[in-house]
Amino acid sequence: MAATRPARAARFDQDYYRRYYLDPRTAVNSRDDMRRVARFIAAYLGYLDLPVRRILDAGCGCGWLRAPFRRHLPSATYTGLEYSDYLCRRFGWTRGSIDRYAARYKFQLVICNGVLQYLGDRAAARALANLARLSEGVLYFNALTLEDWRYHADRARTDAEVHLRPALWYRARLRRSFIEVGAGLWLRSGSGVPLWQLERAGRPVRPHQARSPASTRS
Ligand SMILES: C[S@@+](CC[C@H](N)C(=O)[O-])C[C@H]1O[C@@H](n2cnc3c(N)ncnc32)[C@H](O)[C@@H]1O
Repeated sequence: MAATRPARAARFDQDYYRRYYLDPRTAVNSRDDMRRVARFIAAYLGYLDLPVRRILDAGCGCGWLRAPFRRHLPSATYTGLEYSDYLCRRFGWTRGSIDRYAARYKFQLVICNGVLQYLGDRAAARALANLARLSEGVLYFNALTLEDWRYHADRARTDAEVHLRPALWYRARLRRSFIEVGAGLWLRSGSGVPLWQLERAGRPVRPHQARSPASTRS
């Protein structure tokens, strides 16, 4: 389980995407699922009144979030980061690994959906720290966890060649730099966006961190 390097890029070839994305008999995700995810994320950003100029989709796969974000967040640029040579050739995504990728600027919206289970522990931990470096607004994060595999996943459609870690493993690391707001959404600490206490998932805020959201949202 403790491999230190990302999975081989060659693994993410045409067959992989045909099986898990394009063939409806075996696919784990659909374009329609991703449209709903984009609508949901954009609605939350709208609620926060947080302007989005740059979106990073880290491990973007076929890039099924790009078109719906163009519709819901029209003034934002979309960067799709990918490790798959096949997808980079086919769609022109930025080639790189999520644990090492560096940009000259920060992103107001970062997506990392279904990617980190492909990284061993050390690379995944580096990737989480890197997501914090790249973010200055909202992160949407999801990864297949040990509990998902045991209790929630459709095992016939879900890729089993992954690193399964408890959800708490991810939460503990994300909490170093983000505030969990629920449903896969995390707000970068220090973003200046105020939240009411009950808008946060999990632990209460310490008094010195408190700021009233009332001036911006009520
Ligand atoms: C299950 S797919 C998820 C794709 C997309 N995020 C989605 O939600 O549909 C996992 C993707 O992560 C990419 N990936 C795996 N390791 C990566 C890494 N170290 N850096 C960037 N992308 C990676 C793979 O190439 C693959 O396209």
